[in-house]
Amino acid sequence: SLPKPPSEPMLNYAPGSPERAALAEALTEVSGEVVDIPCVVNGEEVYTGDVVEQVMPTRHSHVLARVHRASQETVQAAIDASLEARAEWAAMPAEARFAIFRKAADLVASKHRAKMCATVMLGTGKNVWQAEIDAAVETIDFFRFNTAFAEDIYAMQPPQNAPGNWNRSEYRPLEGFVLAVSPFNFCAIGANLCTAPAMMGNTVVWKPASTAALGNYYVYNILREAGLPDGVINFVPGSGPVIGDTCLNSPHLGGLHFTGSTETFNSLSHAITSNYGKYVGYPRVVGETGGKNFHFLHASADVRSAVNNTLRGAFEYQGQKCSATSRLYVPASLWDEVRDSLVAEMANIKVGQPYEFDAFMTAVIDKSSFDNISRYLAAAAAAPDAEVLAGGSADDSEGYFVEPTLIHTTDPHFLTMEEEIFGPVLTAYVYDDDKFEETLEVCASTSPYALTGAVFARDADALLTADAALKDAAGNFYVNDKSTGAVVGAQPFGGARASGTNDKAGSALNLLRWVSARTIKENY
Ligand code: ALA
Repeated sequence: SLPKPPSEPMLNYAPGSPERAALAEALTEVSGEVVDIPCVVNGEEVYTGDVVEQVMPTRHSHVLARVHRASQETVQAAIDASLEARAEWAAMPAEARFAIFRKAADLVASKHRAKMCATVMLGTGKNVWQAEIDAAVETIDFFRFNTAFAEDIYAMQPPQNAPGNWNRSEYRPLEGFVLAVSPFNFCAIGANLCTAPAMMGNTVVWKPASTAALGNYYVYNILREAGLPDGVINFVPGSGPVIGDTCLNSPHLGGLHFTGSTETFNSLSHAITSNYGKYVGYPRVVGETGGKNFHFLHASADVRSAVNNTLRGAFEYQGQKCSATSRLYVPASLWDEVRDSLVAEMANIKVGQPYEFDAFMTAVIDKSSFDNISRYLAAAAAAPDAEVLAGGSADDSEGYFVEPTLIHTTDPHFLTMEEEIFGPVLTAYVYDDDKFEETLEVCASTSPYALTGAVFARDADALLTADAALKDAAGNFYVNDKSTGAVVGAQPFGGARASGTNDKAGSALNLLRWVSARTIKENY
């Protein structure tokens, strides 16, 4: 195995630092313009005129971009362009392909870092730290690490030859094109969804979320600046049904690389399986979907660390990471201290604008998300077996602001313990200390999801018991750490059950899905 690159270091944006000044300039630039975002098909910009606006979540009267939605014809042209570009791209030496993504990583790391962060801050409501993690560090790391993992894949060969013959494996791209569908919450996820298949020689039709089109368009332009040939990744924002139907009904669909809701992934997967026989092959389907992620405290837990990690896991980026902590299990012996600490700390959380350096939280992404979260807040306020201990209100008069909220329930199956909310809402359930094992079983089986989870304990036996009980309940399992914040190259990311196909983003396991191996035996 070849040496891997180091993770990109995070900048700290200290007052007076050059990065702080560059960011201020980029924020002024991004907030002062309305960008027309076209579809880009075979290198040509297509302004369809069917426009949806991207606004600031924290100030919805402020329009940042006008996103031109792809028509059915534009999507078909994107498919055609992908098919056309495939032969040359697949034939290019892998190292030449990798050089493009490595150059893109360097461009994000230096020339474009401030603007990438600014588009993500204003466009999707991330504070500077969350933007730096996403638009800079994670995007760069996906490009650098994935190309390194891909080198290992190409080096994998059958271990055995016999006298008189030579065997080898050739890692070809899938036949056809790959559809990449990306969510609003991480610019890096969009960057990974479209580039992981492309690194392996595939060509791609990329549908980014319209609510995050600006950051995704920016990263797409960086890829072009780095030398991505026309037609290799075609950028088509727009309506899910129009893009989905056109791509899924194409006989040339080679794969789907998806991150988003379980419901959408289920419907895309059903559509694909119902088309079996009409495709050239069996499209590879890779999806990362919902989560109902837990923090489970044992009586031996370090309360201060558990509380700090829970505050970060539940409320950073307004609870809109797919890995966000949303259910908390606390033994009765620790509950008073945990509850009082959480409530006290939550009262100090500043909810503000993304450019305010002391704002820990900002607004949720859009009206539909705001309304959905508000429904859960109303249900908790009205339920006899739940009590709202902190937060609980929301205000969308200026931006889509939801208070960080703590609910306590006496029912481990209460609605907000089971359903994904995708907002800053944490629900706690208190168990008797002597019911540790039974409650682990409840935690393991309460939710259909299995994305992330964490256990907090100092007792080694308790950690082993929790590890055994929760093996199938979380694809990313953390011991004495929060359920969020997987680092590319360190914690490959993905979940099982209703959370997806668990083809770990940021690892060779994911990249292997984008190759169709050809085995060659040659007699000599
Ligand atoms: N990879 C992101 C995290 O772990 C979603 O928080």
